[in-house]
Amino acid sequence: MNPIKVGLLGLGVVGGGTWKVLNQNADEIARRAGRRIEVVAVAVRDVAKAKALVGDQVQITTDGMEIVRNPEIDVVVELVGGESLAKDWVMEAIAQGKHVVTANKALLATHGNAIFAAAQEKNVMVAFEAAVAGGIPIIKAMREGLTANRIQWVAGIINGTTNFILSEMRSRGLSFADALADAQRLGYAEADPTFDIEGVDAAHKLSLLSSLAFGVPVQFSKAHIEGITTLSAEDIAHAERLGYTVKLLGITRSRENGIELRVHPTLVPSSSMLANVQGAMNAVMVHGDAVGSTVYYGAGAGELPTASAVVADLVDVARLLTADHDHRVPYLAFQQDAMADIPV
Ligand code: HSE
Repeated sequence: MNPIKVGLLGLGVVGGGTWKVLNQNADEIARRAGRRIEVVAVAVRDVAKAKALVGDQVQITTDGMEIVRNPEIDVVVELVGGESLAKDWVMEAIAQGKHVVTANKALLATHGNAIFAAAQEKNVMVAFEAAVAGGIPIIKAMREGLTANRIQWVAGIINGTTNFILSEMRSRGLSFADALADAQRLGYAEADPTFDIEGVDAAHKLSLLSSLAFGVPVQFSKAHIEGITTLSAEDIAHAERLGYTVKLLGITRSRENGIELRVHPTLVPSSSMLANVQGAMNAVMVHGDAVGSTVYYGAGAGELPTASAVVADLVDVARLLTADHDHRVPYLAFQQDAMADIPV
């Protein structure tokens, strides 16, 4: 089987992580995908820096359009973030009949309806596991594992920066400003941390979960959004004394008169699972009519956790492309001699 050829737009934290994961787990990934996944081109701002990471065998360009128009490339992975350039590149990739993998929640929350419509028209995939809750496979859980259910509600901590800030204010009594400075130093925050602290990033992600849960278009513009900027350490300590922990929750629920979509600081009973999600971790609860309540927990940001989600989408695309041929990938792909390694 020929390898799947990937063009990577952006080689920052998540792009670099994607490169690393594809290389360090290349054999396992090839086995599960049915063929090798090869990055053949990258678009970056700093060519010399990119060359130091990917070497001479990969085409390096500063022009993303070169990648999306390269007929040899099967899949475009968009990891540049932001809306305008990313939108042009993603729309052109789709127009060229390429599959797209993106971690760009802002792009999908604001332009997702046009992007998904264009993808449907061209019969290509736009996969976005990495756009919501980083390394937690929440999109796949909802698309696949819970697909038999009518989803009734989804509630979660889907912004690591604010959860880190609230955790620091609670455990160390830090002021909001000091906790934010720590979050930025540790690299959790968006380039513009306003999106994190004002609840916008969480609302971007929630609008995607809502669309998936209820089969409705992406409705970010209708979300009620309230951030954490006005909370003081005293508010948090006071809630604590009453038996509650303050968490920034994203909640979407199906009601008789429509879909609720809201992000705001919430008093959560301190003994509950969500109250005990600390630091930059994320957790999402999904309630389905058949399965009941389910919880998904893990790293919502960071180089390798987010790359894990990007590569999972690449494997999905590879499986789809492979299935078009007569070589079908088994659902559970294992090494024939794997048992030999297990001591008895
Ligand atoms: N700034 C985001 C967060 C990064 O803190 O969750 C991952 O989307």
